[in-house]
Amino acid sequence: MADDGNGFGRAAAKVDEARLWQRHVDMARLGGTPRGGVRRLALDANDIQARALLAEWARPYGWAVAMDDIGNLFIRRPGSDAAAEPVLSGSHTDTQPSGGRFDGIYGVLAAFEAMEAMEAAGIRTRRPVEAVVWTCEEGGARFPMGTMGSGVFVGRTPLEKARAVADYDGITVGAALDAARAALPGVAHRPIGSPIAGYVEAHIEQGPILEEKGLQIGVVTGIQGSRRFLVEVEGADAHAGTTPRARRRDALSAAVAMVGALERLFHDDPSDTVRFTVGRFVVTPNAPAVVPGHVAFTIDFRNPEPEILRRLGDQVDPICQANRGQCTVIVTQTSGGAPVHFADRVPDAVEAAARGLRLGHMRIFSGAGHDAGPLHAVAPSGMIFVPCEKGISHAEAENATPADLAAGTRVLAETLVDLAR
Ligand code: GLV
Ligand code: MN
Ligand code: MN
Repeated sequence: MADDGNGFGRAAAKVDEARLWQRHVDMARLGGTPRGGVRRLALDANDIQARALLAEWARPYGWAVAMDDIGNLFIRRPGSDAAAEPVLSGSHTDTQPSGGRFDGIYGVLAAFEAMEAMEAAGIRTRRPVEAVVWTCEEGGARFPMGTMGSGVFVGRTPLEKARAVADYDGITVGAALDAARAALPGVAHRPIGSPIAGYVEAHIEQGPILEEKGLQIGVVTGIQGSRRFLVEVEGADAHAGTTPRARRRDALSAAVAMVGALERLFHDDPSDTVRFTVGRFVVTPNAPAVVPGHVAFTIDFRNPEPEILRRLGDQVDPICQANRGQCTVIVTQTSGGAPVHFADRVPDAVEAAARGLRLGHMRIFSGAGHDAGPLHAVAPSGMIFVPCEKGISHAEAENATPADLAAGTRVLAETLVDLAR
């Protein structure tokens, strides 16, 4: 790696493991659950407070903090060329309803720590480096739209479409954003979607591979594709004690038959690469003495192969129709993302940094979705994975070690110095 005076390894050497860990502890208090997890739903009071805390941490450095119209937060460490497009690094502060202490927040705190380390090492870059929080990455945890902030940033999702999305209580993103803006009066405003030079996201792996192999760094090469569906089954409410079988239009019985048939279709033993999940299942009126008249459920389907995504995904509607019995069913695809393959620039830089720091590493493909997916459409992008305990994520038991989090941040710091030179 060419030495431009910044000296390979100098930024990494200033990464402070204890400070990084303490920031995770501080953030985990915002929405902390009794069982050691975090419930910090997109744009709720804790999610807004997480932005305020980051802005407070940025103040001693004099770094500019700005928020755009979708609530993405940017903290800028200037470069020597103010006109140069910045290199961005970050992730999300929102969690699943019973989420963990690392999914998302690690990428934000790693970016912030990398900037602090560059500062401590006296590193000068030509390009500005920005730590970023992307709004509402966790689709369906509160609002039924994932990678929302990054999707709006890159122009994939119109701002007005995102603002109109409502949570399960009917509160819109627009209303939640207006509350966030009012709660952060000291944070400057900036327009959506200014050009960037590159994007790197640190994240826990959320799977078991790195831990099993005893490696600290995953050089992420891409993200598998996904298709998500909403299935709405309409029957008729009826009396549980008096309605004979022939007169029932039981939406729950029909929905259970659909899920059973879908699980058989999506079962790809022994290869086990098809990911099929019914994660939300809502029965109405959900009363013991009423034949249920309405069921809505979600399907989260993921695979690395476009052909499998197409072939299996296209069978969701016919299978639901074939199992609807006396009910009607409407199947809507609510989102879809093609598999992402990062261009070489960022993965190569990540790999060079891991090698230079003598950290055990491997190339790895992401099963989980990330903001780096949308970002790769507008700039060279990539990710750094670190191990998490037993591969557990989207759960309160999610865990990672301070040493692994710091190792990933050292790789991130060197990668950012490289990309911002
Ligand atoms: C994002 O967390 C996902 O569901 O992959
Ligand atoms: Mn995440
Ligand atoms: Mn997640």
